[in-house]
Amino acid sequence: MTFAAAFETKSALIPLLAAPDDRSFVIGQLGQSLDGRIANSRGESLGINGPAALTHLHALRAHVDAVVVGAGTIAADNPRLTVRHIEGRHPARVVIDPKGRINDGHWLDDDGTPRLIITSSDHSIAGVQRIKLPAVDGMIDPHLICAALFERGYKKLLIEGGARTISHFLDHHCLTRLHILFAPLIIGNGIQGVTLSNQLPLNLAMRPKVTTYHLGDGDILFDCDLSHEVRHDQHK
Ligand SMILES: NC(=O)c1ccc[n+]([C@@H]2O[C@H](COP(=O)([O-])OP(=O)(O)OC[C@H]3O[C@@H](n4cnc5c(N)ncnc54)[C@H](OP(=O)(O)O)[C@@H]3O)[C@@H](O)[C@H]2O)c1
Repeated sequence: MTFAAAFETKSALIPLLAAPDDRSFVIGQLGQSLDGRIANSRGESLGINGPAALTHLHALRAHVDAVVVGAGTIAADNPRLTVRHIEGRHPARVVIDPKGRINDGHWLDDDGTPRLIITSSDHSIAGVQRIKLPAVDGMIDPHLICAALFERGYKKLLIEGGARTISHFLDHHCLTRLHILFAPLIIGNGIQGVTLSNQLPLNLAMRPKVTTYHLGDGDILFDCDLSHEVRHDQHK
């Protein structure tokens, strides 16, 4: 990574590092192509962004208390969710698995890091803390997820994907910040990034305050400040 790119990455982390400890800070990240795809139609997402963006993702992981992904990402990518590209400690690993369909994967590796499952089922995995929350039409309110993690001491959260998980958090005004890493790539089909349920006129669409950072390899980080959108009354 060039000196300039390293400086840009560090600058983009300032709001996360400066966040007060008595509130939750929930940051989403998505790496996507110019045409808004986070994976191709085979579900492959590795390689959309370059190495500098991957370093940025690992820096985010190193500075949060817990990293959260949906069951779809575990099934598609089998990610480790650890910090490897920079020096830093691993965050707790949290998987949202309402039906209890996930039984294995690297995220379960016993490296001393807490592993938690958010579920509506009675499914349990040895060594993994289960947080059982109610679902409505199969979906668990993200505010309940944030509150349950907050009361267990996980206050800074990275919602790492995939599309359905991030979109649901955004739809419920649960994200303080969203990092979208645009790669100079046109995939043409595949999994769309953010999709929201509302059909608002353009003048009522979310308009976050945005700062851009050039990470190298042509990747541009859009750091979206959504703090004015967060419904803090619903979780701490
Ligand atoms: N480019 C990137 O930055 C990036 C990052 C991560 C993943 N990805 C890609 O994204 C794809 C997976 O994304 P995806 O949208 O298909 O899946 P996903 O968001 O990883 O997982 C969605 C599933 O997680 C569960 N879930 C998540 N939030 C929930 C909630 N609030 N309440 C209840 N259940 C919830 C549900 O499980 P059930 O289906 O069991 O109901 C849901 O269908 C993969 O291809 C992966 O490679 C890309």
